[in-house]
Amino acid sequence: MFPYRWKGMYSGDFFNLATIEGMLGAPGLKWHEYPPDVIPLWLADPDFPVAMEIKKALINAVHDEDLFYSNDLPTREAMAEKITRRNRIEATADDILITQGVIPPMWLAVRHACKAEDEVIVTDPMYHHFLSAQKVAGSKPVAWNLRLEEGYRFDIERLKGIVTPRTRLIFVCNPHNPAGRVMTEEELRGIADIAVDNEIAVMVDELWEDILFDGRQHITLASLSPEIERLTMTTWGFSKTFGVAGLRMGYTCATDEEMMTSLRMHSADCMRGTSNLARAAAPVMLDHRLDWWRRDIMAHLHKVRDLCYNRLDELPGVTYPELEGTYLMFPRFDYGKTSEELYEHMLNVGKLAFSAGTDYGSQGEGQLRMCIATSEAILNEVFDRMERALAKL
Ligand SMILES: Cc1ncc(COP(=O)(O)O)c(C=O)c1O
Repeated sequence: MFPYRWKGMYSGDFFNLATIEGMLGAPGLKWHEYPPDVIPLWLADPDFPVAMEIKKALINAVHDEDLFYSNDLPTREAMAEKITRRNRIEATADDILITQGVIPPMWLAVRHACKAEDEVIVTDPMYHHFLSAQKVAGSKPVAWNLRLEEGYRFDIERLKGIVTPRTRLIFVCNPHNPAGRVMTEEELRGIADIAVDNEIAVMVDELWEDILFDGRQHITLASLSPEIERLTMTTWGFSKTFGVAGLRMGYTCATDEEMMTSLRMHSADCMRGTSNLARAAAPVMLDHRLDWWRRDIMAHLHKVRDLCYNRLDELPGVTYPELEGTYLMFPRFDYGKTSEELYEHMLNVGKLAFSAGTDYGSQGEGQLRMCIATSEAILNEVFDRMERALAKL
């Protein structure tokens, strides 16, 4: 019933099952990009089993031979229902565009909003695909700097200071990868006011909306007022909550008809939705059937976050931002080394594969990003290795 990775181990703590041997014996890029003696922390893919409900939906679709051309309307209806209920935007199926994951909408946002030399505001640090997406129209990125020593606060005055008559688009990632912040309503209202006052389009990536710590609530920017809703496209997916990145499915909502027409025009024929199989799994991930999962994954993530805090606190010269959302920690190592040097040292000496902080912009210098969505046993091994590697710096 369970694949090899979880063999004989599925009683007890469902989210705490991962072992190095089990992960290496199973498919997945994360554990196979580096030699087997390296523990991978670089990719934001969780080391958790896949929910039985999702597997059943996929198997049933194959059994029913749901492999012909098919209409994606029922999936868009299920997405619109979820968006109306959870994200508080009154959406219909016509307001939804299904894409292969959450990266194509970044590209579409730039195509929709920008011409050459237009400016796109993007936080630094920021998930790196936003940085590459903004290049497609010959537009220019303008950095909205976030600082670790300010707790990665989204400084609205700083944002105001970088808006120019050429600003056409603001990229928002909330919860934020890699800063681990969940935006407050005040921060979101600050962004909304600037966008509305200056008629700037906004693309919001809310892929991490379920991964919130300490009882925080997710607020969808576009739900704050009809004025900001008109300017905003919002994107969600399933890969982070459910560990199904391989299904390659994301969905974008834009209730402004003109914006949705433009997104459809720019995506027509080159981004033709996603597969029937991915769409077969969508309903269980959108309705209430996996509410138990959303609850239990967070119980486990609270446990491993506390483990990380405790172990990081024991390491000299290491500071880190509080983790409010996502399962990505972003510690800073004050050892006089660049992120690239730290990455190399951890890989070669520690046998740990992080991502370098500067992959996310210049503000990430001296930092490493690590995915903590794994078992306590693996994380303890990670910190044992990290401690020994740092002692050699
Ligand atoms: C903020 C953010 N957006 C988009 C993506 C890409 O997601 P997907 O693989 O579901 O397209 C990631 C992946 O880590 C992410 O962290």
